[in-house]
Amino acid sequence: MGWLRILDALWLFLPAYVANMSPVFSARLLPRWKAPIDGGRMHRDGRRALGDGKTWRGLAGGALAGGLMALLMATLAPLLPVFSEEDLGRSEGAPWALVFGFGAGVGLLALVGDAVESYFKRRRGKERGAPWIPFDQLDFVVFGYLGVLAGAPLLPAGWVLDQYGDPWVFGTVLLGTPVLHLLVNRIGYWLGLKEVPW
Ligand code: CTP
Ligand code: MG
Repeated sequence: MGWLRILDALWLFLPAYVANMSPVFSARLLPRWKAPIDGGRMHRDGRRALGDGKTWRGLAGGALAGGLMALLMATLAPLLPVFSEEDLGRSEGAPWALVFGFGAGVGLLALVGDAVESYFKRRRGKERGAPWIPFDQLDFVVFGYLGVLAGAPLLPAGWVLDQYGDPWVFGTVLLGTPVLHLLVNRIGYWLGLKEVPW
């Protein structure tokens, strides 16, 4: 698998990455819409089913962020020479609503994955916000990936399935995600946006 394929696989996963980062922003924008997905319900182990950190606002914001990211990507892909030859250039001509729908579905599922992770985190007795490595970093990947596969029919034929049907591509996204995560945090640290380099 060439580096271009790796770049391609990660590029197509951008709506999931953006959705995964979006809840902290939607929480700032809409602090009062904090209704938790679990409705405050307790599990029979006496702990919250999901916890106050998993809100409907987060899910909605993730879908919106993923959809907007997909629109941005469809706008940019034809302009980026590295992508224009085959795979992503095919997004030209795809209806905007379908491109948005694809990204929104990926974003929503990515955050459903994040909520599923919180369910298991609570069952392990970890409080909201407690670290659980590497699941905190990877929780959105499996569901986000399923979202890409499920949303593939919305996009022009062959745009997604050619590459995302390949288990090597899934491996690349799964392994590449923690690497990207570290890289982004390191850059944030250099830029003075973050206190610690991880
Ligand atoms: N968030 C949200 N709704 C979601 C997901 C996240 O409102 N569906 C917001 C919450 O304010 C949350 C923050 O984004 O605190 C960071 O998300 P995350 O790190 O996933 O949540 P934690 O607070 O660490 O909770 P958990 O232990 O359940 O992962
Ligand atoms: Mg989480």
